[in-house]
Formats: sequence, structure tokens, C-alpha cells
Amino acid sequence: MTITHRTGSYDITFQDVGVALADARPQDVIVTDENLDRYYRSAFPGDTLVVVVAPGEPSKSLATYEAVCNQMFAAGRSRSSRVYAFGGGVVGDLAGFVAATYMRGVPCIQCPTSLLAMVDSSIGGKVGIDTEYGKNLLGAFAPPAAVRIPLDSIGTLPDREFVNGTAEVWKYGFIGNQGLLTRLQKSPVRGSDDDLQEVVESCLAQKAAVVEADEFETTGLRATLNFGHTVGHAIEAVAGYGAILHGEAISIGMVVETQIAEATGIALRGLASIVEEGLRSQGLPTAIPSQVDATELIASMRRDKKATAGKLAFSLLTDLTVCKLYEDVPEDEVRRVLGC
Ligand code: GLY
Repeated sequence: MTITHRTGSYDITFQDVGVALADARPQDVIVTDENLDRYYRSAFPGDTLVVVVAPGEPSKSLATYEAVCNQMFAAGRSRSSRVYAFGGGVVGDLAGFVAATYMRGVPCIQCPTSLLAMVDSSIGGKVGIDTEYGKNLLGAFAPPAAVRIPLDSIGTLPDREFVNGTAEVWKYGFIGNQGLLTRLQKSPVRGSDDDLQEVVESCLAQKAAVVEADEFETTGLRATLNFGHTVGHAIEAVAGYGAILHGEAISIGMVVETQIAEATGIALRGLASIVEEGLRSQGLPTAIPSQVDATELIASMRRDKKATAGKLAFSLLTDLTVCKLYEDVPEDEVRRVLGC
């Protein structure tokens, strides 16, 4: 599959770990996390610099970004270097942002090892880091040079990480992929499923079509990929990065945002229960954890990148497989749903 963007195009291919990294040169850098480094170090080309970060969302920080760049400067990496982002969404977003900015930009090869990164974050060129003010608030649109998906790495994912990624798979079903939604409602996706590659390809085809049509998120179309994310990002920020995994927060966000759609009359009553039932069948959480303060959630949602002039913006389902950006959702309705 090839994705075309404003300045070129890149291929998405399925390649096992050893093959995906085989062409890394001595002047390149592989960015990965401690878990993957322990498991796969022998598969990394021996003479390529490997920069290892701590696993988990807290590594999407200014401090880790600076530390990665400094290791590259100290090792003499130049404008002719390439960055291989070998890891899940955290590594992909962080390494992608390093590549986008290192000496004004070097190529990035995304090698997503988690389901979440395979179906979503490695595709489309959004890279960045979090701040105390919110998720992904420092970043860039910087398309990768290539995406190589090592499906064999799925087998090494802890169960919680795999289930975490399924939230984004369900998202594609809910926002427009009827075939995928029917497949998921029949049977939740598992790492051992024979059709796992087909499921991933179905998500990729959908994301490719959306990002080609609205690369810079200006028409509202790409914003539909953010279904569940206004609430989900706020949950991540308020709970503390890493306390709740991204997909888990998005799962809760999809249910709450559909309750908001019902409360505002955008969706018919009953839709949130259908969304919730599907996500629960997959083993995903569907309710806001008790330690997350609803008033803080509202403040965080106002800083969402989709928001303008402090208004609350959500990509909401009007029906199953129909999603649309709403940029001025009444705050009192949101408060009512959140109970604050
Ligand atoms: N993850 C949403 C997007 O790429 O736009």
C-alpha cells in the first residue's frame, strides 16, 4: 500500500523484524524501548547506534526528546542519518518527532511493533510529545519515509498491550468501516487470529484514504479519526501519563463521547450502549476511573487541538459508522454526562 502526501509518498509493507531493520547503516540510529531492546537486540544490525528509552507514555517528554537528540549529536549523527522508530506508539511518536527536527529533518522509517502503532500512530505523519498541558501538544506533520510492519512482533506483546491496540481497531469500525465492525461484533480480535493481517490491512486502507484526503486535518475528515480522543486524551493527562494506556483511555472516551452525542440529540438513544457492549466484549474499559476528576477533564478538553476559542470540540457518532466533527458542543451537556 502506498500513501501519497503533499511532498511525496511512502510504502507500507509487512516485514518481519529482522528484515525491517536489515538495511540500517552505521550512520543511522534505531530508537527503541528497554523491553524491545532486551528482546530483539540480536536482530539489530551490530554497527548501528541504538538509543533506548524507558517504555511507556512518560517517555513522550521534552526531557527524553532532548536526551535522544543529545545521544545522536554525541555519536556524530548527521543530516545523512536515518531514524528507525522500532517500537509502539510512544517510540514512533517520539522518534518521529526527533527525525522531523534533527538538523531540520532526517528520514524516519517507522517499524511499529504494537497493534496500536500498526493500525494508527505509525501512519499519517503525526509525530510529537506530550506536555503537562496535554497530549501531543508539541509535534509536527512529518510523513515517514517508509512504514514496515513486523506482524511477528505481535506475539511478544503483553495481553494488556494487545487489547490496548484493539481500541483503535474498533474505532475504525465505529467511524465508518461496516465490514470491520461486523467482523468485530461477531468475535473480538485476538493476536492469534488467522485474519489478523486482514484486520490490520482494513484499518490501514481506511486510514490511508482519510489522511490522503485531509493530510493536515483542515476539512474535519481526519478529525473523525479522533473519535473518543477528546475525552481520552484528557483522561490520560488528568490521570497522569502512563497510568491509563492510550487505547484504554480512547475506549472510555468513545463511550463517553457517544453519551454526549445522545445527550445533545446528535445520536439516537441506545447508540452508546452498542459502543460500550462491543468494547466490553473486547476486554476494554468503558467507564471513567473514579480517581479522575471531571472538572479537570473539562479544563483539559478545552486545550484539545481540535478546540478553538476554548469551545469543546468532539468527533461524534451520529449513527454506527457515521462520524462528524462538532466544534461547539454545549459545555452544560458535557458536564451533565460527566456528572459535574
Ligand atoms: N491518530 C489520528 C490521526 O492520525 O489523525
